[in-house]
Amino acid sequence: MKHKRTDFPPDFQFGVATSAYQIEGHAQGAAGTTHWDSFAATPGNVANAENGDIACDHYNRFEQDFDLIRDAGFDCYRFSTSWARVLPEGRGTINQQGLDFYDRLTDALLERGIKPCATLYHWELPSPLADLGGWRNRDIAEWFADFTEIVMGRIGDRMFSVAPINEPWCVSWLSHFEGHHAPGLRDIRATARAMHHVLLAHGRAIETMRGLGMSNLGAVFNLEWAEPADDSNEARIAAELYDGIYNRFFLGGVFDKSYPGNVLDGLEPHLPTNWQDDFDTIGTPVDWCGLNYYTRKLITRADAPWPGLKEVPGPLPKTQMGWEVDPAALSRFLIRTARDHTGDLPIYVTENGMASPERHHDTDRIGYLDQHLAEVRRALDQGVPIKGYFVWSLLDNYEWALGYEKRFGLVDVDFETLERTPKASYHALQAALARD
Ligand code: FCB
Repeated sequence: MKHKRTDFPPDFQFGVATSAYQIEGHAQGAAGTTHWDSFAATPGNVANAENGDIACDHYNRFEQDFDLIRDAGFDCYRFSTSWARVLPEGRGTINQQGLDFYDRLTDALLERGIKPCATLYHWELPSPLADLGGWRNRDIAEWFADFTEIVMGRIGDRMFSVAPINEPWCVSWLSHFEGHHAPGLRDIRATARAMHHVLLAHGRAIETMRGLGMSNLGAVFNLEWAEPADDSNEARIAAELYDGIYNRFFLGGVFDKSYPGNVLDGLEPHLPTNWQDDFDTIGTPVDWCGLNYYTRKLITRADAPWPGLKEVPGPLPKTQMGWEVDPAALSRFLIRTARDHTGDLPIYVTENGMASPERHHDTDRIGYLDQHLAEVRRALDQGVPIKGYFVWSLLDNYEWALGYEKRFGLVDVDFETLERTPKASYHALQAALARD
């Protein structure tokens, strides 16, 4: 790699990220079922109808996985807790095995000198809560606050940082408007409610953790750069709307206590009544902002009802996901987020990485990481208070609707034997992060 630790400020944190359902093996340890289990069991939703039953079997192999994190020289590990592992019904009875697992996991990280960075929810909603309407039901904010209290009541004393929810756009829009993720809905009213409730639940979780005396609490957003597909006015307006829905709605709610006007034009009739009254909770102060960045989209107008947008294939090199590689948009986002929303608040790049079919000599991934680190450096040079960078992901894992084929790991996983083999990118990062 061209970059190394010393190219960044001395207190800059390098980390690696995963999520519970994607690696743990959800069928183990008496976890309850989730909406991802039933979504995956419904033909047509997930490549090869694959699910997270075994995944990387991290549930039994986490010590070995944490040795890999330590040996690579990472400072931080971003993981998520599974709601249904801790509360199989989503509420009520605690599965002690589940809580004990996250307790052991935390100590195993600390023993290795790795800072634990938790996300409370990374997409696997307990089925009994999905039956009650899931993110469409306003009560989810309280169910989530209760879950937060239980998990963080146990491990919160040892966390370096915590964010309540991974990627509110995916939880709401991707899953309730586009139907690509669980619960697989395509309904604008469900979408509007999920978009609002996911932010309300975020706010309630932050309040709950403040009540537990915790600090270094943040929020994690996925951003996608929207570029007009051509020079026309209509493409410009379309790209602004895509940006509003994808990026500014969620950042705006949390940091500005408002939603963008161009999004409200279409969504307001579908939002819950008195939504404006929730902004004090949604916007309760956080200590940092996390940005997940992968790609950009070329956008233009579609002859269709609101939002009337369509994506146009772009000319840039693409990853195994078919996502264009556009590193420059990362620095633009970092600079813009600080300027428009977060000011002096620390920013972390909480996910960045690429899927590649290359299972061992993944020089494409090394190039991708280098190009994006160059943009982090560029934004730092412009004064953006970026405090860390996390690679997605430690291991090849369950890539949601795309199953096990898309490989994001620094470490290869053979899904027959579950054997782990570090790739070239792992070794490159190990050399780059070494302290002499
Ligand atoms: C992000 C998700 C993560 C993974 C990567 C590729 O949107 O947070 O779980 O799927 O994309």
